[in-house]
Amino acid sequence: MSEAKIIRLAANENCYGCSPFAMDAVQKNLENIHLYPEVNPVVLKDKLAESFGVNSKNIVVGAGSVRIIDGLIQTFVGAEEEVLTFEKSFIAYGQLAGFHNRKCQFAPLTEFRCNPENIFPLINEKTKLIFIANPNNPTGTIISHAELENLLGKISKNIIVAIDEAYGEYVNDSAFPNSIALQKKYPNLVILHSFSKIYGLAGLRIGFAIMDEEKAASMSRGQIPYSLSPISVNAALAALNDQAFILKSAKDNAEQRTILFNELNKLGYNVVASQSNFIYMWFGTDDEKKMVYDKLFRNGIIICDMKIFGQEKALRISIGDAKANAMIIQCLG
Ligand SMILES: Cc1ncc(COP(=O)(O)O)c(C=O)c1O
Repeated sequence: MSEAKIIRLAANENCYGCSPFAMDAVQKNLENIHLYPEVNPVVLKDKLAESFGVNSKNIVVGAGSVRIIDGLIQTFVGAEEEVLTFEKSFIAYGQLAGFHNRKCQFAPLTEFRCNPENIFPLINEKTKLIFIANPNNPTGTIISHAELENLLGKISKNIIVAIDEAYGEYVNDSAFPNSIALQKKYPNLVILHSFSKIYGLAGLRIGFAIMDEEKAASMSRGQIPYSLSPISVNAALAALNDQAFILKSAKDNAEQRTILFNELNKLGYNVVASQSNFIYMWFGTDDEKKMVYDKLFRNGIIICDMKIFGQEKALRISIGDAKANAMIIQCLG
């Protein structure tokens, strides 16, 4: 199989690339790579603050949102305290808790969805940080505004809830939380965002979070100096300014997501309705799963075997463009 023919649908990247303005910013910044970057990316923080209607003191920028996830655990979870998240969710929460020798508890999903009600029985006096991927990776389901507010209203204000909206721009369900409004009401809410998904900058490693000023200041004190390259910061700024590209990516993704979901459904596959840029498929046996994976692989399409998330009988297909989608449907039909 030649490299040129391979279609990568395993890591939920933007199949349409990135904004041409971001690409331009990368090229323009190449001539400055001999210079150190700013320690504090003020212009990007100001732009993010303006875009989200918050103060720039509420913004933390990091080398990918995984670095911010790591920083949250490092900064706020004490030696005897615990992290809580959902099983069948983004693997980094548990992994990074483990790296810091912190215990991580996993609440079960209900019908592939992170049901916040399942969190309550696991909360104890040691619980310090709760991660909820919204939409959830790998199942693509969401929790609603009402559910998130209910959770925030019931738990101790000392527990930080980190709502991870890495795929938030892909959602078109109106029940999706207005997390900024909730953050203003509940200072223990932290909102995580990534430039790796719809912004198309996964290789540049940049993400950000919105949180109350005090937490943002604590996080910044623990930040590794010069960990953000000027290429990433300026590309992120250009990507943020090109909302037309973001809206078009979201629209095209939603169209292809509906087509893929409906066609896989018609073909009799078990698929979960997604609000993100991927679709989760589950199987009765490992062999059935392997057959689908192998069929696509033989045709140059690489998808994600959920074994890496500890889920033996499931696959996740990132939504590609119309051509990639048609190929998948043809292969599996
Ligand atoms: C839910 C979720 N959060 C965060 C990330 C990581 O994003 P970043 O590339 O910004 O570190 C991913 C990547 O797959 C993800 O699925």
